[in-house]
Amino acid sequence: MLTRAAHSVTGTEAVGPYTLLRIQRGDLDPGLPGQFFMLEAPGRLLPRPMSLCLATESELAFLIDPIGPGTRALCSLELGDRLAILGPLGNGFRLDVERPLLVGGGIGIAPLPYLSERLDNPPAVLGFRTSWHAEAAALVPNAEVVLEPIYVTEVMPAGHDVLACGPAPMLEAIRALTPHAQLAWEAPMACGYGACWGCVVRIDGELKRLCVEGPVLDAAA
Ligand SMILES: Cc1cc2nc3c(=O)[nH]c(=O)nc-3n(C[C@H](O)[C@H](O)[C@H](O)COP(=O)(O)OP(=O)(O)OC[C@H]3O[C@@H](n4cnc5c(N)ncnc54)[C@H](O)[C@@H]3O)c2cc1C
Ligand code: FES
Repeated sequence: MLTRAAHSVTGTEAVGPYTLLRIQRGDLDPGLPGQFFMLEAPGRLLPRPMSLCLATESELAFLIDPIGPGTRALCSLELGDRLAILGPLGNGFRLDVERPLLVGGGIGIAPLPYLSERLDNPPAVLGFRTSWHAEAAALVPNAEVVLEPIYVTEVMPAGHDVLACGPAPMLEAIRALTPHAQLAWEAPMACGYGACWGCVVRIDGELKRLCVEGPVLDAAA
């Protein structure tokens, strides 16, 4: 059964323009990389979906881009504050790949530190708008970093199983290059577990509730 639990903030840290929010892990299962948690700052109407960025025995950490009211409220939490958390939710990345290459764009790198750890630090290619945003690349070992106007698809080596997260145009460009890819998509999510139909996207003419059928989908699907 899904239960929302209250957990304490154990620390926050600025990483370029992003905030790394650490919370007490308690008995939460970190799940698979690419799965997500609904995080709700106190006093907020709706929780916000966030990919797990890092997991230790005692903490879970989320890398958050403060782009609107919900994410700004999460980024302004302080040590000892409590937030409600639900998860892990959705389908994460399959880890049974032979030659993994991690690809991330902007805040889409959020699930890659945990994914990298689970796959023993494979090569990664990360793209950012500016060198300030690229400070987040320090969280992903073995990463080649490119800044705009160069795009990750211009430097991705061939012959790998790609595991990618980032803006939709980046994922579409990867899909056009290779069917050997798992892509983590995004849509605004209100519930996170299939009840509200708010996250429906059309992919290749098919409607999918991203929170239950994704957010990670095979490129060839
Ligand atoms: C599965 C999943 C995992 C995510 N993981 C992370 C993460 O690890 N770190 C992180 O910073 N963000 C992540 N996001 C995105 C994050 O949930 C949204 O940025 C957040 O919900 C925006 O809420 P807000 O109240 O701050 O802004 P809002 O006011 O809700 O939105 C600000 C602007 O962004 C647009 N927007 C909001 N949500 C999305 C979305 N999901 N996709 C595209 N456009 C959107 C809105 O239309 C609006 O224009 C994830 C989203 C999903 C679906
Ligand atoms: S977020 Fe409610 S159905 Fe997907």
